[in-house]
Amino acid sequence: MICAAIFGFGNIGSGVLDVIENNQHEIRKTLPEGLYVKYILDIRDFSGTPYADRVVSDIDIILNDPEIKVVCETMGGKEPAFTFSRKALEKGISVCTSNKELVEAYGPQLLKIAKENGCSYLFEASVGGGIPLIAPLNNCLRQDRILYIAGILNGTTNYILDRMESEGVDYEPVLKDAMNLGYAERNPEADIGGHDTGRKISILSSLMTGKWVRYENMYVEGISKITQRDFQYASAHGYSVRLLGVSRRDGEALSVMTAPFLLPQVHPLHAARGVFNAVLVNGNKVDNLLFSGRGAGKLPTGSAVVSDMITAATDPTSSHHINWSDEVVIPEPQDECENRFFVKVSAGSREKAEQVFNGQIDEIWSLEEIPDEFAFTTVAMTESDFAKKAAMIEMIGRIRIF
Ligand SMILES: NC(=O)c1ccc[n+]([C@@H]2O[C@H](COP(=O)([O-])OP(=O)(O)OC[C@H]3O[C@@H](n4cnc5c(N)ncnc54)[C@H](OP(=O)(O)O)[C@@H]3O)[C@@H](O)[C@H]2O)c1
Repeated sequence: MICAAIFGFGNIGSGVLDVIENNQHEIRKTLPEGLYVKYILDIRDFSGTPYADRVVSDIDIILNDPEIKVVCETMGGKEPAFTFSRKALEKGISVCTSNKELVEAYGPQLLKIAKENGCSYLFEASVGGGIPLIAPLNNCLRQDRILYIAGILNGTTNYILDRMESEGVDYEPVLKDAMNLGYAERNPEADIGGHDTGRKISILSSLMTGKWVRYENMYVEGISKITQRDFQYASAHGYSVRLLGVSRRDGEALSVMTAPFLLPQVHPLHAARGVFNAVLVNGNKVDNLLFSGRGAGKLPTGSAVVSDMITAATDPTSSHHINWSDEVVIPEPQDECENRFFVKVSAGSREKAEQVFNGQIDEIWSLEEIPDEFAFTTVAMTESDFAKKAAMIEMIGRIRIF
């Protein structure tokens, strides 16, 4: 038996145990000796549960047990997750995680510690939940120059926007439903503010460039300003609204952002409905690839963590080739990025808007059923040019066009 431990027995940690215990037959196809969870580290009391005899609150019991070859870190947050992961790696124990916050903030450092100690740090479940995405980027696509990654990376916001689109309901009541259904956190800011998507596109951008693309250096905008009227305009013109993380390389220049975009309804990413995620990867030789599936949830995410645990148990050096250095790369300033915009002003401001955006209006999108507004799309323009012009009109709202 390969012995393992779970750090943090919450939603995902209990999913990891479920996958290991109930899919042992499948796991033994790769690890004939089997994978066994010997310890569960958590701060809660699990007495009276079937796994109570495996629960410990002292990490040293795990670190000092020479039988432990691999752990999963499913605690979340930066501390003590970082310290616990570092200590395990320093003991030569591989760590597999679903914790995007930790991976974004300490990925290169933990990969280096793993390499120095002959073990692995793997993080398939940190982006896209159950969708195999990190391993394909690190393995199957090593020979390609990745030019472009764009994705719906947060299930909560996708659920909210999808319901606004399909049921014609407003943002606030759908957010409440998402919270009641347990999709959104009690404090949903990480999801709706775009921070969760931002951290995930930061990790993907780092793997794309081999350098460290920090979340704090990128532009992040959430979905709280999206209204039902935006969906009316969008659907009348064959579009939807989705929160996207987008990362592009042009030569040495990199642009990365998270924001709501008008997405054509025929675009392959639009097929990800409800809590599903979808990610489009473009490589210079392989062309477009689409990854989609359940981006969160105990069993899909637990499955991705266990996949890493099997990989690390089979080959403790498996993360050593991951191309992610600690050299920080700063994306292009947002002001210099070019985008097309959908813009709404009051009907009375039409003349002024046409004057200010003279030559840069692409299509008029006004609708008879919204007579108090004038709506239009722009041609591609820099964010700074757009911001200067938008400041000259009384803009009600704007959304970038994908
Ligand atoms: N939920 C998802 O669908 C999903 C999907 C992909 C990735 N993730 C990521 O996976 C990670 C875990 O998420 P989750 O939803 O499973 O969170 P969760 O349900 O809150 O589980 C975390 C567990 O770790 C325990 N814990 C906290 N501090 C600890 C400590 N010092 N020592 C030992 N145990 C400790 C928590 O106990 P207490 O409850 O007592 O604090 C809780 O049982 C997060 O980074 C999250 O972003 C989640």
